[in-house]
Amino acid sequence: SVPVLTIDGPSGSGKGTVSRLVAEQLGWRLLDSGALYRAVGYAAGMEGLDLSDGDAVTRCAQSVKIRFQPSADGADTRILVNGHDATDELRTETAGAAASAIASIPSVRQALVDLQLSFRKPPGLVADGRDMGTVIFPDAPYKVFLTASAAERAKRRYKQLKEKGLGVTLGTLQREIEARDERDASRAVAPLKPAEDALLVDSTGMPIADVVAKVLAVVRP
Ligand code: CDP
Repeated sequence: SVPVLTIDGPSGSGKGTVSRLVAEQLGWRLLDSGALYRAVGYAAGMEGLDLSDGDAVTRCAQSVKIRFQPSADGADTRILVNGHDATDELRTETAGAAASAIASIPSVRQALVDLQLSFRKPPGLVADGRDMGTVIFPDAPYKVFLTASAAERAKRRYKQLKEKGLGVTLGTLQREIEARDERDASRAVAPLKPAEDALLVDSTGMPIADVVAKVLAVVRP
């Protein structure tokens, strides 16, 4: 079957960047599953839905059209939600919080399963998320769980958002990220935790290239 490398971990662990670079190196496809949850939260907000209304948000998750439009260099994939380029809105911590809120609804997660499975195509897939190795691709031959200290994760995310011109303060961001991680780890469905057979990689203080090398070695020892 088509090989999958799952990369799970909390916010700011470097998953997104590492997954993209590793996928590029392997020539494999990339699934940014967080973007799907962000897109559903965003679409639900656009429809004026109450994010705690499970039935309404589930219908939204079942009908929303999400399209990834890769750029030439792969670094600036645009994300279209119901035909609208929502890339910039999806990056904000507001979108992250909305994603985390709707991601705790089991039927919303269920609505996104087939779409996620459909990314598994030859020659292989790198799947970035929270439950890639535990729920969506439990049979994946390669699994990594990426972490970093809370302070470092907040700093990385801060730098990322600042580069995108999004105004935030480090203290506020760190509190928001901690609240989101806490919710993601404590929810009843697909809580954030490493798969039993995942390699744990703590990227605190590690240059990104070293993290990429370590993850690549899981697939090509
Ligand atoms: O980039 P960051 O890690 O901050 O966030 P993300 O990967 O875009 O995910 C945003 C939110 O979506 C997370 O806080 C989770 O609540 C949810 N999510 C999930 O439940 N399952 C996934 N496979 C991916 C994301």
